[in-house]
Amino acid sequence: MSKKDTRPRTKLVEGGRRKEWRRRLVNPPIERASTILFDEVAELHASLPALGTYRYGLQGTATHWALSEALTELEPGAAGTAMYSSGLAAITTALLAVLEPGDELLVPDSVYWPTRRFCDTFLKRFGVTTRYYDPLIGGGIEQLLGPKTRAILLESPGSMTMEVQDVPAICAVARDRSVVTLIDNTWATPLFFQALAAGVDISILAATKYVGGHADVMLGYVSANDSHAARLHETHGNMGLYASGDDCFLGLRGLRTLAVRLARHQETGLALARWLQGRPEVARILHPGLPGDPGYGLWKRDFSGSCGLFGVVLKPVSEARLAAFVDGLQHFGIGYSWGGFESLIVPAHIRRTVRPFEAEGPILRIHAGLEDPDDLIADLEKGLERLRT
Ligand SMILES: Cc1ncc(COP(=O)(O)O)c(C=O)c1O
Repeated sequence: MSKKDTRPRTKLVEGGRRKEWRRRLVNPPIERASTILFDEVAELHASLPALGTYRYGLQGTATHWALSEALTELEPGAAGTAMYSSGLAAITTALLAVLEPGDELLVPDSVYWPTRRFCDTFLKRFGVTTRYYDPLIGGGIEQLLGPKTRAILLESPGSMTMEVQDVPAICAVARDRSVVTLIDNTWATPLFFQALAAGVDISILAATKYVGGHADVMLGYVSANDSHAARLHETHGNMGLYASGDDCFLGLRGLRTLAVRLARHQETGLALARWLQGRPEVARILHPGLPGDPGYGLWKRDFSGSCGLFGVVLKPVSEARLAAFVDGLQHFGIGYSWGGFESLIVPAHIRRTVRPFEAEGPILRIHAGLEDPDDLIADLEKGLERLRT
């Protein structure tokens, strides 16, 4: 069986483990470097910036190459992967790789808020116009395409509100009109949604979340198809972008166990969501993996799993009672980010401009960690008692 034909879970274990990089170890060691020393000037001149070639620290070392290669192998249709120091850096510089002054970019109204901020400030300053679209627009996006539309960004499900996009329909329209498509695929990872196979050109992940998986590293990556990989690497190089060898090592370490962790996050996330769904204090759950969710049909068609991140819309309640619920939880940390081994909860703030999100009451975002689900449910149950009384 060739490497290409192995299944994703095998790829997670075997990807990037070339003997010349790991030598006799199971894992490639952490290589930190700025200067690379050459024996002769001719050798220095012959070293081109490429995966597997030592040249200068910015071009990476075996630790970077192993992670980058493993991630490329995990994304069917990818021709290369660039590493970044955060998920946000991956998003912003992937956009810079495809956009030029005068272009228009289409962005879903449900996009991760810092991405919106980048579009509305930085991109605007550089002459790129952002037009927000209803995330549920599907193939209807054709109506929004104009002569200046260069790229469409997707994010599915959307941040906080969790709408599932019709990615294949949007990408089919985009391809017909030579418009580039990029997706923030952090929620599903390539294990649950193979973005390039679905027609997207460029897939972006905050590896800070499930790839790292332990809440101890900031890391992002972008995998691109053949048509866009060269431009992606060129932009990465031009901008002097870098992720440290230590952080790539943590990314690799997390990657090896991604499948087992995600399966457990999925199971616990669904268990919590189902339990909350039956509670009188809850208006509705935002989780596309639950039958009855508006995104369930598309999710079932396109995804092979769900992670541990979902939303809860409560019935109207005072701020004081909401705080009593959240602050008193024993097993849920209060904090940003997600995808680590631990459960988290944060109030969600929705900022939209095209399709308002009507919520009955406050929205909470829950990340289901790897704790025993019964402990998490008991904690939520006590919390809901505090909410009521
Ligand atoms: C959907 C999504 N994309 C991207 C990011 C950015 O990742 P990072 O925190 O690594 O910059 C986040 C972070 O919360 C996110 O939720």
